[in-house]
Amino acid sequence: MELSQRVSGIFSERFGGHGDMFASAGRINLIGEHTDYNGGFVFPGAIDKTIVAEIRANGTGVVRVFSIDCDEYAQFGLGEKDKPAQPWARYIFGVCREIIKAGGKAAGFDAAFAGDIPLGAGLSSSAALESCFAFALNEIFNDGAVDKFRLALIGQATEHNYCGVNCGIMDQFASVFGRKDNLIRLDCRSLEYKYFPFDPIGYSLLLIDSLVKHQLSDSPYNKRRESCERVAARLGIDTLRDATPEMLDAVKNDISDEDYRRARFVIGEKERVLDVCDALEAGDYERVGRDMYDTHEGLSKDYEVSCEELDFLNHLARKSGVTGSRIMGGGFGGCTVNLVRNEIVDRFKETVRVGYSARYGFEPKFYDVVISDGARRLN
Ligand code: GLA
Repeated sequence: MELSQRVSGIFSERFGGHGDMFASAGRINLIGEHTDYNGGFVFPGAIDKTIVAEIRANGTGVVRVFSIDCDEYAQFGLGEKDKPAQPWARYIFGVCREIIKAGGKAAGFDAAFAGDIPLGAGLSSSAALESCFAFALNEIFNDGAVDKFRLALIGQATEHNYCGVNCGIMDQFASVFGRKDNLIRLDCRSLEYKYFPFDPIGYSLLLIDSLVKHQLSDSPYNKRRESCERVAARLGIDTLRDATPEMLDAVKNDISDEDYRRARFVIGEKERVLDVCDALEAGDYERVGRDMYDTHEGLSKDYEVSCEELDFLNHLARKSGVTGSRIMGGGFGGCTVNLVRNEIVDRFKETVRVGYSARYGFEPKFYDVVISDGARRLN
C-alpha cells in the first residue's frame, strides 16, 4: 500500500476524519562533505525516499502525534519545557518550539506519520522529519509566511538544541529545497544556491548501505567541527572557507597533527565541489568520479570518519571499475554513494553482495535513488 494511504488510514482510525497531507524527503550529497559548517559548498539533492504526515489543527495547545513505524504515541504541550521521552518526538517538539522562537505561530495539532527512509543510513531521515513538520506548520498556522530558508534553519536549530548534533545546514536545506531531477549547489557562507539538472545518461546513482548504524549525537561529529573551528581561530578567519593550503602550512607547527589533517581535507573538498559542478556541466562523469574517490580518501585518512566496512565497499568499487564512490553524509557508518555505468551495475552489485557477506557475514543493502522533490503538500 502506498505510504500516504497507510498514513491516512491510521490517522482516521486514531483521530477520526482527515487532515492535510505533507511529505518531505531524505537526501544524497554528490560531493562536499563536512564543508557546510565550514562555510563551504555542498551539492545535495532530495531523493525518492520520504516521510509522509497527516496533520490537523486540534484547537488546543497540545500536540498529539503517532509514529506509525515505531508504533508509539507522544503528546506534549506547546508551553512545556521538557523534551518528550521518545527520541523521534523530540524532532517535532523542537520544530514547534523553534518556529515560535523564529516569530512564527504554532498551535496544537494531531498527526500521524510514516516513512521509507532507512534509519541510521546517513540519508537524513531526521532532517526529513523536521522539514516535513516545519513545512506543514508553516502552511497550517502561518499561511506559508515563514520563508523556506528559515524553515531549514528551524530544522537545524532543532538538531542543535534538542538532539545534541551540532550539524551544518546541508540536510535540512536539501530536504526543504529539493527539486526533482536537480542537484543543488549551496554556498553555505552566502547561502546562494543554484539548481543543476542531474540526468547522467548511461550512469546510475547507487547507494550501498554498510548497515553499520551511523549515529551522530554524542559522536565524534561534534569533535570534527571543533577541530575546524580551532584551526580557523588560529588563522584568524571566521571559517575554513577562507583558508588556503599555504595558510594552513604556515601554521602547521602551531596546531596538532590531527587538526592539520582535518583542515587539509576541508580545504581540498571546497575545490572538489566546484570542480564537480564544472565537470557535470561539461558532461565529464569520469572527472566527477575521480573527485568522489579523492573525497573518500580524504574522509577516510585525514578526516577519519570512515570505518572498515565503508573502506571495503570503496575498495570493491575501485576494483570493479565503478566511476566514482565515496562515503556519504556524516560518516561513522551508513552508505557509500556510487556513480556506476549502467552496464556494470548488476555485476557490481553481485561482487559487493558476495565479497561483503564473505567478509562480514551479512549482505549490505542497495538503494537505487531518483532525485526528487523535497518538502511539499500532498493534497
Ligand atoms: C551530517 C550533517 C550535515 C553535514 C554532513 C557532512 O549529515 O547533518 O550538516 O555536516 O553530516 O557533510
